[in-house]
Amino acid sequence: MRPAIQVSGLSKSYGDTVAVNGVSFEVSDGEIFGLIGPNGAGKTTTMECIEGMRRPDKGTISVLGLDPFRNVYELQERIGVQLQQAQLQKRIKVWEAVDLWASLYRKKAVGERLLEQLGLSEKRNTWFMNLSGGQKQRLFIALALINDPELVFLDELTTGLDPQARHTIWDLVRGIRERGKTVFLTTHLMEEAERLCDRVAILEHGRIIDIGSPESLVKRHCPERTVVLVTTDATAAERFRTIVCVDTITCLDTEITLRGHGDDFVTEVIQCLSESGIRVTDFRTILPNLEDVFLKLTGRSIRD
Ligand SMILES: Nc1ncnc2c1ncn2[C@@H]1O[C@H](COP(=O)(O)OP(=O)(O)OP(=O)(O)O)[C@@H](O)[C@H]1O
Ligand SMILES: [Mg+2]
Repeated sequence: MRPAIQVSGLSKSYGDTVAVNGVSFEVSDGEIFGLIGPNGAGKTTTMECIEGMRRPDKGTISVLGLDPFRNVYELQERIGVQLQQAQLQKRIKVWEAVDLWASLYRKKAVGERLLEQLGLSEKRNTWFMNLSGGQKQRLFIALALINDPELVFLDELTTGLDPQARHTIWDLVRGIRERGKTVFLTTHLMEEAERLCDRVAILEHGRIIDIGSPESLVKRHCPERTVVLVTTDATAAERFRTIVCVDTITCLDTEITLRGHGDDFVTEVIQCLSESGIRVTDFRTILPNLEDVFLKLTGRSIRD
């Protein structure tokens, strides 16, 4: 099957600032693909080149088999775009904006239903300027979906939304995938990327430093596992030393921290506890996540 997006050797500078530097990747049809990286990494620039809003200095881009520059009108019918920075007229009402957007396309989704799905039905008669930040964000997502697009671009999907709205939007995005469509998004939230994306590309200083499913990236870059348990059994540490995949054991009073590797690490610790009859009053695992991968690869937190 042809990928929804193919990008090869994409570069884009603004004067002396190299925003994107030789980026190549593909987004498969029907997947949720995330671009993650710190502020200024080049995510929006990459996305806007793919949308046909910016002309790259170098590289080739194919979107749904089309050239985003030459076939811009044809593509506009088939893609949906939510911009990171967007504004509408102050006094346009929510339903008017939805109507206006719908009038631009031949194929359209049901506007009222979109408003309902995005929790905006009650605000349908409210002026844009009187919406809260999160409500504006939800309206822009509704507008991005108004032409029932095959491919949706969502830049900073849930920035500024409360946790409840965030979960609603995640469900909505999964719904888009379930209907066989493709989603290309950027986010600063590692939890969002981890829960939502089939694959992510980590971008830093305009270059992709790795691509893969969140699980495969964690496995590749942060294979270590940690178990923390509390026990008064003085022989415990000695017994844990017999487990092959344990790398280090640290004891602090009754708290023991075991670090190890491999898929069987946690099971082996539990088996050792059981076989040795060690009583524990607390037991928890600390598994690395995408945030740890990011930290390891870039040497900084995404929030820095
Ligand atoms: N229109 C512009 N003119 C000049 N420089 C720009 C322009 N847009 C972006 N840049 C610069 O290009 C680099 C990449 O910016 P871009 O907006 O693509 O990053 P981003 O990864 O989307 O960041 P953020 O997470 O803050 O949204 C930055 O250094 C930025 O200052
Ligand atoms: Mg951006």
